[in-house]
Amino acid sequence: MSCKLFLLLEYLALSSVILFQLEPRLGASNNITRCIDEEREALLTFKQSLVDEYGVLSSWGSEDGKRDCCKWRGVRCSNTTGHVKVLNLQTSDHEFARRKFLKGKISPALLKLRGLRHLDLSKNDFGGGSPVPEFIGSLSKLRYLNLSCGTPSSKIPHPFRDLSGFEYFNVENSNLFSVGSLERLSHLSSLRHLDLSCINLTKSSDWFQVVSQLHSLKTLVLRSCYLPPINPSFIWLFNLSTSIETLDLSDNHLPSSSVYPWLFNLSRNILHLDLGFNHLQGSIPEAFQHMVSLRLLSLASNELEGGIPKFFGNMCSLNQLYLPRNKLSGQFSELIQNLSSGCTVNSLEGLCLYANDITGPIPDLGRFSSLKVLKLGENHLNGTINKSLSHLFKLETLSLDGNSFTGVISETFFSNMSNLQILFLADNSLTLKLSHDWVPAFQLKWLSLASCKMGPHFPNWLQTQNQLISLDISNIGISDTIPDWFWDLSIELFFLNLSNNHISGKLPDLSLLKSDDIVIDISSNNFDGPIPPLPSNSTFLNLSKNKFSGLPDCWLNFNSLSILNLANNRFSGKIPDSMGFLHNIQTLSLRNNRLNGELPSSLKNCSKLRVLDLRKNALFGELCHLAFIQVLDLSLNNISGKIPKCFSNFSMMIQEKSSNPIIGLANEILVVPGYIYYFRYLDNVLLTWKGSEHEYKSTLGFVKYLDLSSNKLCEAIPEEITDLLQSFNASVYAGNLELCGLPLPNKCADEESTPSPGRDDDANTVEDEDNQFITLGFYVSLTLGFFVGFWGVCGTLMLNRSWRYGYYNFLTGMKDWLYTAAAMNKSNLQTKFRVSLG
Ligand SMILES: *[C@@H]1O[C@H](CO)[C@@H](O)[C@H](O)[C@H]1NC(C)=O
Ligand SMILES: *[C@@H]1O[C@H](CO)[C@@H](O)[C@H](O)[C@H]1NC(C)=O
Ligand SMILES: *[C@@H]1O[C@H](CO)[C@@H](O)[C@H](O)[C@H]1NC(C)=O
Ligand SMILES: *[C@@H]1O[C@H](CO)[C@@H](O)[C@H](O)[C@H]1NC(C)=O
Ligand SMILES: *[C@@H]1O[C@H](CO)[C@@H](O)[C@H](O)[C@H]1NC(C)=O
Ligand SMILES: *[C@@H]1O[C@H](CO)[C@@H](O)[C@H](O)[C@H]1NC(C)=O
Ligand SMILES: *[C@@H]1O[C@H](CO)[C@@H](O)[C@H](O)[C@H]1NC(C)=O
Ligand SMILES: *[C@@H]1O[C@H](CO)[C@@H](O)[C@H](O)[C@H]1NC(C)=O
Ligand SMILES: *[C@@H]1O[C@H](CO)[C@@H](O)[C@H](O)[C@H]1NC(C)=O
Ligand SMILES: *[C@@H]1O[C@H](CO)[C@@H](O)[C@H](O)[C@H]1NC(C)=O
Ligand SMILES: *[C@@H]1O[C@H](CO)[C@@H](O)[C@H](O)[C@H]1NC(C)=O
Ligand SMILES: *[C@@H]1O[C@H](CO)[C@@H](O)[C@H](O)[C@H]1NC(C)=O
Repeated sequence: MSCKLFLLLEYLALSSVILFQLEPRLGASNNITRCIDEEREALLTFKQSLVDEYGVLSSWGSEDGKRDCCKWRGVRCSNTTGHVKVLNLQTSDHEFARRKFLKGKISPALLKLRGLRHLDLSKNDFGGGSPVPEFIGSLSKLRYLNLSCGTPSSKIPHPFRDLSGFEYFNVENSNLFSVGSLERLSHLSSLRHLDLSCINLTKSSDWFQVVSQLHSLKTLVLRSCYLPPINPSFIWLFNLSTSIETLDLSDNHLPSSSVYPWLFNLSRNILHLDLGFNHLQGSIPEAFQHMVSLRLLSLASNELEGGIPKFFGNMCSLNQLYLPRNKLSGQFSELIQNLSSGCTVNSLEGLCLYANDITGPIPDLGRFSSLKVLKLGENHLNGTINKSLSHLFKLETLSLDGNSFTGVISETFFSNMSNLQILFLADNSLTLKLSHDWVPAFQLKWLSLASCKMGPHFPNWLQTQNQLISLDISNIGISDTIPDWFWDLSIELFFLNLSNNHISGKLPDLSLLKSDDIVIDISSNNFDGPIPPLPSNSTFLNLSKNKFSGLPDCWLNFNSLSILNLANNRFSGKIPDSMGFLHNIQTLSLRNNRLNGELPSSLKNCSKLRVLDLRKNALFGELCHLAFIQVLDLSLNNISGKIPKCFSNFSMMIQEKSSNPIIGLANEILVVPGYIYYFRYLDNVLLTWKGSEHEYKSTLGFVKYLDLSSNKLCEAIPEEITDLLQSFNASVYAGNLELCGLPLPNKCADEESTPSPGRDDDANTVEDEDNQFITLGFYVSLTLGFFVGFWGVCGTLMLNRSWRYGYYNFLTGMKDWLYTAAAMNKSNLQTKFRVSLG
């Protein structure tokens, strides 16, 4: 089994933050201001209806010393009247993924705060109640209302967003609540800022009418609101002299027909427009040219085609243009010609065109002298990288990864890029010639050079980069040991990929890394010796395909470790008992080592384990109580005696549905202010069917697999196991036909199968003599359902009666799934099935 970074996804945090100027802290100059008793009580009542697990509101109390509510966290009072003016409980106080937040209900006690002008409850989780409570419309002084959830989970691009269940990743957004009419908001005629992001407004068919009445609105953010389409007959309602400057309707599945007609009548005042993650189709309409004040335009992740219209070259205020993840095409040089036809060359600081179908070489970009962000990754660009890029000395982000660039990049290319922080050159055919003693002008935070040619020596200049938080130098041809300085790089590092090189020697102590959720992939190298101390905040560790031999018993503090891959090494001895402390582990692979001894019973504490791969060791014993296990490979071990009865405790194996179709990881990291990067990993596992290995990735969560083959099990299969089979109904998967990849008939682009019977780590697999019956369709249904790899368990395995019938029923129940269903007769099936079980 190997685990991969499935996708490194990124998007810019586009919603420009219009910060409300908070009143100066009261009582700083005089100590007279005291909060009004009635308002203090109201706030305490409000607090009571909340669940404050993290002590966010610990400063709120009625005890002496806490009585002045104007000094409470998030509360600001008017310095003349003493009324509470601002309540800001946005709790994001940490730039990394895990946030503190409040839960519970929003109490109407807030209505007593009659002077309230600014209410920000964003980034909390008020799933328990309606997020726009009736009373809010009565807060007549309100100017700012923010109930946003912060960064939405649904901004996850394809393929994740097509899979149901991804909310799993985003715990704090999982309680999307729905509201009906927004009519009450229409009373807030002086509201200037409104942000209801992530609130389910599907039922709020009046949203457009209501918003049309808010004539003072400057900022309207309705991101990820599941907005119903705008009814064309109401478009006239929208006051054309509206004051809107910032409009964010991203991630609402809005079609062009619903947005364009009224949008293009919007004022010339609009500054920021985000229509990303909708269903805008066709070419970019000319009508955008009327928005002459536009500074930021995002049309990211739509279905836009064609090129970039010429008028964009004449938008003298345009600062950020984001068009990634569309279907834009054409020669890059022509497209740039349009963009550089006027004054935009001077104003443009951010240009994102990644993940389109743009072709050809990079032309001279030297005129775009203000550019700070240039993202051209994941296109079809080719040729050498134009030297003019090296004149863009303001560049902070340069992404050229995933194209077909060729040629050599040398130090001079970077000599003026002293502001560079993010550099992605991965996955091209580039060679980097950088001398041993080069001292770059930049200090990078994020560097990805995967698959560039750089070896055989370890890149010495990295020594100068001590602010890195993410480093990917996988597959760059290093045949060296790791220099001592390497581990002094940065303790902030949270992502490190050194895989697919030929790095040898010992792996030094990594335990000093201090970020959250650390990801380390050093697989496919020649490291040997014992595993050194690893950072206990790791969430992903892949040390597979090395020559490690010592497996220390110190897994006590790895509380967030979710994926641990130690496969294909030389570990011997027992599986350490402390692995039972991996409370969050989902996938554990020790496949193909030399482990022996009894399976530790402590593993039963790994209650979240879904994939356990112990194939090809010399282990024995029973494993019970793994309630969430779905993939258990114990093949090629020394397990003897009866097939353990307690396997019937594997309740997830008999569940029709999967707890989550995705087995993987997701992180959300703020790299530099304004940039949020999303990491998504899909775990992948190699499973053996009929002697060949198949890789499961996006469908892994659906697979139920138990392989006991090639052990010393000789007795009949106990009734308990038949219980697992019998209650299963394969038809539940019929609704998942949009899924791709094995075991399904439609292949995904990123899915591989490795028909490699007799691989060195997988000898002994038993082949069926006759492949005619067991078609891919058979395989599909069987694996999607419950798949027992008993073939080869023992030469003369006797099936007990109920088991056989159970399985038989299961199969016939799925006959619709089989390609060969029509041609098949039951006796044929029965006979064949016996044979395949050995
Ligand atoms: C590390 O890099 C390799 C090769 O570039 C890639 O296949 C793998 O998915 C990466 N690992 C992670 C965790 O991203
Ligand atoms: C609302 O709050 C979120 C998260 O705190 C913030 O990102 C967003 O900019 C705010 N919206 C407005 C309109 O200020
Ligand atoms: C206000 O109170 C603070 C302590 O709470 C004190 O340090 C400061 O001297 C006081 N200022 C006045 C003007 O009394
Ligand atoms: C009171 O607030 C106003 C603005 O809200 C500010 O101009 C003034 O300086 C404040 N007064 C004191 C004493 O802080
Ligand atoms: C939004 O709410 C509607 C009902 O109001 C519900 O059917 C739908 O599933 C909700 N959508 C999400 C993504 O929660
Ligand atoms: C449009 O808005 C302006 C103020 O922005 C207001 O004076 C005018 O009455 C509004 N017109 C309509 C038809 O609502
Ligand atoms: C609104 O825009 C459309 C074209 O987008 C235009 O035909 C129409 O005249 C505009 N209406 C007003 C009132 O500006
Ligand atoms: C250049 O602009 C023209 C006019 O807007 C447009 O028709 C053409 O498709 C654009 N070309 C490219 C390559 O973007
Ligand atoms: C850079 O682009 C200009 C304009 O297209 C071209 O003349 C030049 O040859 C290019 N240089 C390289 C090294 O590709
Ligand atoms: C770039 O790709 C095109 C095909 O898309 C090809 O015709 C052209 O020769 C390539 N140019 C270089 C420099 O590789
Ligand atoms: C770097 O900047 C200097 C001064 O502006 C200039 O002379 C030099 O050509 C630039 N180097 C590159 C590689 O662009
Ligand atoms: C792990 O992360 C937490 C923050 O979540 C941090 O406080 C702690 O110091 C880290 N632990 C180590 C050993 O670095």
